[in-house]
Order: sequence, then C-alpha cells, then structure tokens
Amino acid sequence: MSVNINNNDINKAREIIYKIAGIYLPTSKDSTIKNRLDMLKRKFNIQDFDNFFHQVKHGHFKQEFVNAFTTNKTDFFREGFHFDDMLDRILPHRLKENEPIKVYCSASSTGEEPYSIATTLLYAKEIYCSSTPVSVLATDIDTSVLDFAKKGKYVVNTKLNPLPTWVDLKDYFDIKHKNDHELFMDAKSNLKNILTFKQQNLYDSRYPFGIKEFDIIFCRNVLIYFKVSDQEQILSQIFSHLKIGGTLYLGHSENILNLAPKVDRLGKNIFVKVMD
Ligand SMILES: C[S@@+](CC[C@H](N)C(=O)[O-])C[C@H]1O[C@@H](n2cnc3c(N)ncnc32)[C@H](O)[C@@H]1O
Repeated sequence: MSVNINNNDINKAREIIYKIAGIYLPTSKDSTIKNRLDMLKRKFNIQDFDNFFHQVKHGHFKQEFVNAFTTNKTDFFREGFHFDDMLDRILPHRLKENEPIKVYCSASSTGEEPYSIATTLLYAKEIYCSSTPVSVLATDIDTSVLDFAKKGKYVVNTKLNPLPTWVDLKDYFDIKHKNDHELFMDAKSNLKNILTFKQQNLYDSRYPFGIKEFDIIFCRNVLIYFKVSDQEQILSQIFSHLKIGGTLYLGHSENILNLAPKVDRLGKNIFVKVMD
C-alpha cells in the first residue's frame, strides 16, 4: 500500500529543510515540496513519513533529504557580463602582481559556474603572460551536485546555453560533437588543477575560511532561496571573507541589502568592497 502525502507532511518538510539549510519554501511552493517528497518516497520506499522525518532529524537520510530540496539550475558563463568584468576590469592589473588570486564560488551546483570562472582565469593568465597563481574554491550544500562537478564531464546544448566566442574552449575542455546542437565537454586537467570542490552550508553560523581571504566572490542565484533576514546574515558572513577592494557578484534578482554602505556599485550586480 502506498502512503499519501498530506499537509502535515508538507509542513514538516518545510520546517526541516529551513532548519537544516535555511531554504525557505512558502506555501506557494507546496506542490514543489509534495513532488520532492514523492521522489523521496519512491527512492527510499517510505511507508511512514513521521518515522522518516524523525530519522532525518537524527541524521539518517539527512543529506539525501537536503539534496532532494535544492534547486540546481545553472549554465556555463551564465550572466556572462560577470566574466567580462573579471577579464576586463579585475584581471589585467591583478595578474601583474605576484600575489595569488583566490576566487570563491559559494553555490557551485553542478560545476558549470566554477569551471567558467577557472576558464576565465586561465585564459587571462595566457593573454597577459602572467605567472600569478590562481585558484577557485567551489562549495555547495548538495553532495550529489558536488560529486557530479568533480568529474567535470558535461553535455552542453549550445542552443539553450550559447558558449562565449572570446575564448577557445578547446584549450580547457576536450570537446566532441554529440549532435548538431549538443557537445560533450570534458574539463582538462589544467582547469581541474586550480579548482577545489567542498561541501559548505551557507546557513552555518561560521565558514572555515580566512577573514578577507578572497579577491572575488560569486554568490549568485542562491540568496533567493532564503528569507531576507537570513540573506542579510549570509551576505555579511560571505562579505567578511572578501578583501577590501575585492569584487562580489550577485545573481540578477538578488540584492546587496544592508551591505549597501560598504560597497561601490558598478551595475549589473557587481559590487566592490570599500570597507568592513
Ligand atoms: C540555482 S543554483 C545556482 C548555481 C550557480 N550559482 C548559478 O548561478 O548558476 C543554487 C545552488 O545553491 C545551493 N544551495 C542551496 N542552499 C544552500 C545552502 N544553505 N548552502 C550552500 N548551498 C546551497 C543548491 O544546492 C544549488 O546548487
């Protein structure tokens, strides 16, 4: 006999995912919650949701539960003006210094974003003949997307995700045609060598990074899943790990909120940190 998902189950799931990950799913998202619970029910043959939630609260199935409630939509070179900005404004002068350039990608999903960042860094090093060390730390709460990202193997639909023309991607990926509009793209070791993938929950009260450790932080299309009060908390945590003069990139529908007095706004959700 198959168990039905009722409002009580939906409310409990909402409460638990908020408590663990800060992901806030209002009642307008009830059908999404139901679909995700349905998926978990089939995957783990759940007969009793009360018992399942009890186990999640005590750590069993906790990661699977979190993975089921994340939304992982991403693309290579998404919101491409942020990569243009790195290339044109930040890297020409920064690559003349020997000080390593560290980039943090705070919700890296399946990896397209950090691989795009790494490609931009290596391409800029090449054109500016620089030997400055560069690295990208990419984190996410979802372990299934992190495992996928570490492999660096993609099938890219170039109609849905047009790729940039300013860089020869064959220098950074092994590329084969799958069909007219799809490519197999396998990240080469030059890209993989400058990338580190780790799990990090942005809702944690502290992050294990140095204060002002990063030159550039990408925090794109993740704040939208949190309540505004939590967004402020998370943003100020992330901000503490950005150098003065460093750049923060937010997603197109995200807001700098109470950090506004501490940044210069360059437009297109590009912010330069001017004070702590
Ligand atoms: C829509 S994707 C955005 C991916 C990429 N940043 C981009 O803009 O294309 C949102 C990502 O945020 C991650 N996420 C959600 N809540 C999180 C949390 N509390 N801590 C860390 N990552 C989280 C999800 O797992 C998902 O991979």
